[in-house]
Amino acid sequence: MGVPIDIIPLKTEMQARSNHLKNQGKTIACVPTMGYLHEGHLSLMRMARSMADTLVVSIFVNPTQFGPGEDLGAYPRDFERDQSLCRKVGADILFYPSATEMYGSRFQTFISLEQLPFHLCGISRPVHFRGVATIVTKLFNIIKPHTALFGQKDYQQVRIIRQLVQDLDLDIQIISGPTVRESDGLAMSSRNAYLSTSQRLSALTLYQALCQTRNHLENGLTDAKTLIQSAASLILSFPETTIDYIAICDPDTLEEIQTIDRPAVMALAVKVGKTRLIDNMMLSPQ
Ligand code: PAF
Repeated sequence: MGVPIDIIPLKTEMQARSNHLKNQGKTIACVPTMGYLHEGHLSLMRMARSMADTLVVSIFVNPTQFGPGEDLGAYPRDFERDQSLCRKVGADILFYPSATEMYGSRFQTFISLEQLPFHLCGISRPVHFRGVATIVTKLFNIIKPHTALFGQKDYQQVRIIRQLVQDLDLDIQIISGPTVRESDGLAMSSRNAYLSTSQRLSALTLYQALCQTRNHLENGLTDAKTLIQSAASLILSFPETTIDYIAICDPDTLEEIQTIDRPAVMALAVKVGKTRLIDNMMLSPQ
């Protein structure tokens, strides 16, 4: 069962609690999530636990980061299980607001970045990062953490959050934790729950394509277009796959690069059946 945990559904209560903790000189680390927790989240929580006096986990399936026709309604939820996992990891507070609590009925202020969202996932999900930037800023204002942790699987998301923290002078340390994988390499994601047994096999192609690219690079192939074509052929050889994008880009600007003659990030999004999965890998030239 683990240690007791406080479940806080109200913004004002959360703010008051954080103010009280800070007045007592306590540090706060937070792990924002949309629930349906997996080992990727838990590893971030363990890191956070070791970094601060108080660990706040938030669970909120944020409607503004889903576009029309995306999976907001179907997004997997299991609050009982999530709660017990948070307890086991030793989280102190679970911030669990409703959509009405977070946005009210006349919400009209959003945070939008000018450049980073116009690459990678932002191309096929045009409202996604506006929703992420807005909710993360709101969570920072409500939880008031010293440190916030995010998973590196959402590379673009972490890059965007770091940028907004810098641009808006938020006094919060952003830490990113490594992508946690299943034993066969599939990156952990709440959306893996949507996959059928055969789709689960096809989903392995994302990591395989990344590893194949790394191997090609180790053998001296540095042309991004050739590497991307080769990754695409591998992915499309698996049943039920459609490629949203495969990109090799500058880790900082996310602009595509032609030749891997400096550190780069390869990122991809692939639909397996109806499930959209993402993954990425840092690439370094020899
Ligand atoms: O990565 C997620 O789960 C979400 O995008 C986040 C950061 C919790 C914002 O809703």
